[in-house]
Amino acid sequence: MRGKDPAGKNAVACVVLAGGLGKRMKSPLPKVLHPLLGSPMIFYALDAALSLNPVKTIVVTGKFHNEIERSLAPYGGRVDFAIQEKPLGTANALLQAARRLKGFFFNGSTIVLNGDSPLMTPGTLKRLVSLHRKNGNSLSLGSFITDEPGAYGRILRDGKGSPVGIVEKSDLSGEQIEIREVNSGLYVLEPQALALLDEIPMNPNKKEYYLTDILRLAMTRGMKAGVYPLATEEEFAGINNPLELRQAELVLRKRQTEGLVKKGVRLMEPALVFIESGVKIAPGAVIYPNVHLQGRTVIGKGCIIYPNVRIIDSVLREGAVVKDSSVIENSTIGKNAQIGPFAHLRPGAVINPSAKIGNFVEIKNSEIGAGTKAMHLSYIGDASVGRKVNIGAGTITCNYDGVNKNRTVIEDGVFIGSDSQLIAPVSVKKGAYVAAGSTINRDVPPGSLAISRTEQKNLSGWVKNRKRKQAHEDKPAHGKKGR
Ligand code: UD1
Ligand code: MG
Repeated sequence: MRGKDPAGKNAVACVVLAGGLGKRMKSPLPKVLHPLLGSPMIFYALDAALSLNPVKTIVVTGKFHNEIERSLAPYGGRVDFAIQEKPLGTANALLQAARRLKGFFFNGSTIVLNGDSPLMTPGTLKRLVSLHRKNGNSLSLGSFITDEPGAYGRILRDGKGSPVGIVEKSDLSGEQIEIREVNSGLYVLEPQALALLDEIPMNPNKKEYYLTDILRLAMTRGMKAGVYPLATEEEFAGINNPLELRQAELVLRKRQTEGLVKKGVRLMEPALVFIESGVKIAPGAVIYPNVHLQGRTVIGKGCIIYPNVRIIDSVLREGAVVKDSSVIENSTIGKNAQIGPFAHLRPGAVINPSAKIGNFVEIKNSEIGAGTKAMHLSYIGDASVGRKVNIGAGTITCNYDGVNKNRTVIEDGVFIGSDSQLIAPVSVKKGAYVAAGSTINRDVPPGSLAISRTEQKNLSGWVKNRKRKQAHEDKPAHGKKGR
């Protein structure tokens, strides 16, 4: 399918149509940028297109060119754009791309996909291209059979079953209403078919140029055309409204979770995990319900993620465990480390192997050494914590002085007693102890104990004396009646 020479017969170019206004979405966001599993809808059509190794890929944009171009930044130099000045219909959109292709001296097959059809698989695209070539067609398109043809273009066939044209919903008449075979919007065109675009007349009802009219035009010119019911609606569905967006997401989630389960990921309830398309999960991981995995998150072998956890752009290495109701953002969790329940790892937390971060602990922009424990109610921000450190309950790094963020360094083997405050910048050196309840604002030398609390006094008999005094004050004065 691949052809290195753009002028070669076997080269393919892909065009993704995304110049429409998408009014039926009833949303200010351009239709093709609506997210599905966290990625813009257009990524899916584009990925399917790129799987064919095209010599050129052109995205046709219109009113929302800037937004779409910005969103497609991850595709770098792999995508070109053609701008459709006015949304004059799908034929007019493809015409803009065809003009650009001419400029590239492209002479191979052009594959056209709708940017609003995210469910097509690379396999189906390849099948259409090979049927197209096998039959020596000038024009081929994919169709599907549905009981609810809705707004899709209906495929017209003659008595022998040969395709003769496509009728859009607004132009349907008589028994055409009964037609169940509809247009998927996936086309393959040879240069002679592409040349027909200039001749497509304006649709009198909608005042647009319909790409669907190319089938009738090709047939009347004696070109060979094929329409192939290649896949079901689960692959060919177009997204025109919020309900269809929701349905497409359900299809994608089903495909995704089935793929993960087959691969050996244990999803305790697949319908209740929410995994974005950029997430990678190794076999043997266990994921409980109501877990949200987002962005570029990577979950290693044998990790366990308990309920109500959200992990964004983070890496969990083999055997890491995240207990209930924790949030992890832009962080790295080492092998066999344990997080939560109710922990919050904010951007820049690096938790080394076998460390334990427990209940109500917040960590930000800090490295926690291997085997270190911070089990209860702490805030560790802008700190470097060594190996095998014990951070007592309620320890706070006071990292912000109102102007600057300052660092705290806690070296290997340190013991920080509960309810201590470390006023940064400050270092607690190797093996030192900080007594519970201390406020530390000077460095603690290696192996020493820092204690900074006021000495305790015990006042003997104080309680009894207080009660006696109270009773005396409450008694009414002699001779006066209480009111
Ligand atoms: C289109 C087809 C219909 C097919 C269906 C499959 C036409 C006339 N109709 O209908 O036969 O069954 O797709 O999903 O082609 N676009 C532009 N510029 C425009 C108009 C649209 O680039 O001026 C783009 C849109 O952004 C969209 C795609 O073309 O990605 C399809 O347009 P849309 O308006 O969704 O067409 P449908 O009504 O779905
Ligand atoms: Mg559509």
